[in-house]
Amino acid sequence: MDAKTKRSLVLLLCLCLHLKTHVCLAADTIDANQSLSGDQTIVSAGKVFELGFFKPGNSSNYYIGMWYSKQLVSLETIVWVANRETPVSDRFSSVLRISDGNLVLFNESNTPIWSTNLSSTTTSGSAQAILLDSGNLVLRTAGSNANTSEPLWQSFDHPAHTWLPGARIGFNTVTNQTLILTSWKSSEDPAPGLFTLELDPNGSNAYLIFWNRSRQYWSSGAWDANSRIFSGVPEMNLNYIYNFSYVTNKNESYFSYSVYNPKTISQFVMHTSGQIQQLTWLEISSQWNLFWNQPRKQCKVYDLCGAFGSCNEVSVISCSCLTGFEPKLQRDWNLTAYSGGCKRKTPLHCENATSADGKQDQFKMARMSLPENVQSVKQWMFNLDWRPLQSARIHIK
Ligand SMILES: *[C@@H]1O[C@H](CO)[C@@H](O)[C@H](O)[C@H]1NC(C)=O
Ligand SMILES: *[C@@H]1O[C@H](CO)[C@@H](O)[C@H](O)[C@H]1NC(C)=O
Ligand SMILES: *[C@@H]1O[C@H](CO)[C@@H](O)[C@H](O)[C@H]1NC(C)=O
Ligand SMILES: *[C@@H]1O[C@H](CO)[C@@H](O)[C@H](O)[C@H]1NC(C)=O
Ligand SMILES: *[C@@H]1O[C@H](CO)[C@@H](O)[C@H](O)[C@H]1NC(C)=O
Ligand SMILES: *[C@@H]1O[C@H](CO)[C@@H](O)[C@H](O)[C@H]1NC(C)=O
Ligand SMILES: *[C@@H]1O[C@H](CO)[C@@H](O)[C@H](O)[C@H]1NC(C)=O
Ligand SMILES: *[C@@H]1O[C@H](CO)[C@@H](O)[C@H](O)[C@H]1NC(C)=O
Ligand SMILES: *[C@@H]1O[C@H](CO)[C@@H](O)[C@H](O)[C@H]1NC(C)=O
Ligand SMILES: *[C@@H]1O[C@H](CO)[C@@H](O)[C@H](O)[C@H]1NC(C)=O
Ligand SMILES: *[C@@H]1O[C@H](CO)[C@@H](O)[C@H](O)[C@H]1NC(C)=O
Ligand SMILES: *[C@@H]1O[C@H](CO)[C@@H](O)[C@H](O)[C@H]1NC(C)=O
Repeated sequence: MDAKTKRSLVLLLCLCLHLKTHVCLAADTIDANQSLSGDQTIVSAGKVFELGFFKPGNSSNYYIGMWYSKQLVSLETIVWVANRETPVSDRFSSVLRISDGNLVLFNESNTPIWSTNLSSTTTSGSAQAILLDSGNLVLRTAGSNANTSEPLWQSFDHPAHTWLPGARIGFNTVTNQTLILTSWKSSEDPAPGLFTLELDPNGSNAYLIFWNRSRQYWSSGAWDANSRIFSGVPEMNLNYIYNFSYVTNKNESYFSYSVYNPKTISQFVMHTSGQIQQLTWLEISSQWNLFWNQPRKQCKVYDLCGAFGSCNEVSVISCSCLTGFEPKLQRDWNLTAYSGGCKRKTPLHCENATSADGKQDQFKMARMSLPENVQSVKQWMFNLDWRPLQSARIHIK
């Protein structure tokens, strides 16, 4: 056999292997005897969603994620991430497979780093994972009827940053499970960030946006079951696309929504900007159209720019550092993740003994509102007398 024939044989063999891997998982299911690795994906039956490894932006980390199939939405749009906090660096030697009745992600050294975490009693018998056209990844007993049997586990019970039609946001008082949306840390890090959308735990059936799960900075207002709108969101009256519903009983309370036209591709996103965004896909221009967002004003997002940062509503880049300061985490700042705030870049003159030096330690910012719990020394701001300025040293330090 000459080298040329040999080469083409090798080429043919490679091609076959390549085809085989694709045929292998050209399905919506991961069965007990299958695994997903490298560039392999599973695709929902109606080719709406796809699941596999992805890399956010220029990050070197890989995650198991779910996105709209490229033929439906040409921009890569991640709607769910499994291992948000435990990425892998080599997707070819990492494996997602069924193990002891759970769906488990094993990293390069075959260590389980993410799991559906069901106890073995729940999952007696073999399990299989199925990706549905709704964007729900469901783990169920192999061979059970998907229409009638309760799933053992489903990704709709573990939302990431995106709320899809049919999924719920709320809580279950029996299991204490909360269904909340949590922003990514940055556009390159899907780990849970500071901003969440939750159903009011006090049962006033409103939904709320929180900073760090503690400080509320936006509320939808109470739900009006008759007009099917939130009192704080009157523009929902004009919202002919979405049909919201609220369910509450002894066991659970939640909101869910559907789209009147099933052809509409829609998502709700808790964005890294701290704003909730309602987006619809525009086929014509191949982009997501921002339908609605709250809080409307970017600077209403609590502590968006972090310590020593200031927020500007009209500039393209919302956050900047005060004079004499620079971003603490420049890389995050470049990715519009500002919460790290700013650090001092020029030392204080007033650290020197002479008060004449200290006179230079000042900056002016016009038309600004001050943060909450602001500590200020009122006297010196309006008084050019020397002594009050000395007390400003304490303030600046
Ligand atoms: C994998 O398991 C499924 C269901 O148990 C079975 O139908 C299929 O034949 C198996 N495939 C292989 C390659 O063993
Ligand atoms: C990613 O890297 C490319 C090429 O280095 C660069 O053009 C692009 O701006 C980077 N994107 C981000 C979000 O940093
Ligand atoms: C796999 O995960 C384990 C546990 O988190 C970790 O100790 C190990 O270094 C990881 N392996 C690789 C190759 O990253
Ligand atoms: C599974 O359980 C472990 C330990 O209790 C926990 O650290 C991990 O976050 C859980 N994983 C998921 C996906 O819930
Ligand atoms: C589930 O329901 C769908 C639509 O109602 C139907 O087409 C399908 O055959 C059902 N599947 C099973 C396993 O009964
Ligand atoms: C849910 O929370 C309540 C109050 O914190 C507690 O009494 C109850 O045991 C919890 N239930 C479960 C299933 O964890
Ligand atoms: C819920 O009610 C308690 C007690 O009235 C209050 O302290 C808490 O701040 C309320 N939580 C929210 C999110 O409104
Ligand atoms: C968020 O809250 C936790 C616990 O309440 C706290 O430890 C952490 O420092 C907070 N994060 C930020 C960025 O303030
Ligand atoms: C809106 O949703 C509710 C609850 O799911 C449903 O009963 C109602 O028929 C829907 N309305 C329309 C016009 O589809
Ligand atoms: C609440 O849960 C219990 C058991 O978990 C169930 O029997 C009951 O039907 C549920 N109630 C409602 C209103 O869903
Ligand atoms: C941030 O962006 C600036 C300007 O685009 C660039 O010069 C700088 O290298 C970036 N820094 C980091 C750490 O990514
Ligand atoms: C403080 O004074 C010393 C000596 O005059 C000078 O070298 C230094 O640069 C001054 N520091 C600042 C922050 O002005």
